[in-house]
Amino acid sequence: MSPLEAALAGIWLMLPALIPNSAAVLWGGGKPMDFGRSWRGERILGDGKTWRGFFGGALTGFAFGVIQIASSELFDFSDSWSHGNWPRALWIIGALAFGSMIGDSAGSFVKRRLGVGRGDKAPILDQYNFVIGAFVIVTIVHTHWLKFHYIDGNQIYGLIAFLVLVPLLHRGVNIIGYKMGKKDVPW
Ligand code: CTP
Ligand code: MG
Repeated sequence: MSPLEAALAGIWLMLPALIPNSAAVLWGGGKPMDFGRSWRGERILGDGKTWRGFFGGALTGFAFGVIQIASSELFDFSDSWSHGNWPRALWIIGALAFGSMIGDSAGSFVKRRLGVGRGDKAPILDQYNFVIGAFVIVTIVHTHWLKFHYIDGNQIYGLIAFLVLVPLLHRGVNIIGYKMGKKDVPW
């Protein structure tokens, strides 16, 4: 695979992890995941983490992944463009989608412990919390998946492309969320 194709395939396969973060902004609202509770004087997660956002986001990413798997079976995609065969592929996209939202919640937990308010900036953590979550959970579910698709050979260009795209997309989506009135700040 050429570096360019590896970069594109790397982004394609990560979409089930990428989508939840953006979708959560659209789904967000309702009961906060910590039910308003605090720990050591700070909210456990804060009002920016809601159940609707968590499941709406994760299930949107999962649903997109199901469409990807169906397409790859139907049109016989090569291995590098496929999450694998059913049912294993479902575990992979589930791990990516739910891992993404778990990482996002864990990021807010860390921010609150550091005394950073809801929606206030925490550079790197804000952009990459969901990446870490998705990588950790997918590694638990299928240890070799990340290595095969993001480390071996030219696939490393997929990892680089994905890591470069994340902060750009994060910024873009937050500006849209702000304009829609879903977020108080455009970052
Ligand atoms: N959101 C949600 N539930 C989630 C994740 C996100 O409802 N589990 C929605 C919230 O409306 C949130 C917005 O998506 O404000 C943007 O998410 P994020 O930037 O992660 O939250 P912040 O408000 O910045 O809060 P934090 O400081 O905890 O990251
Ligand atoms: Mg934020």
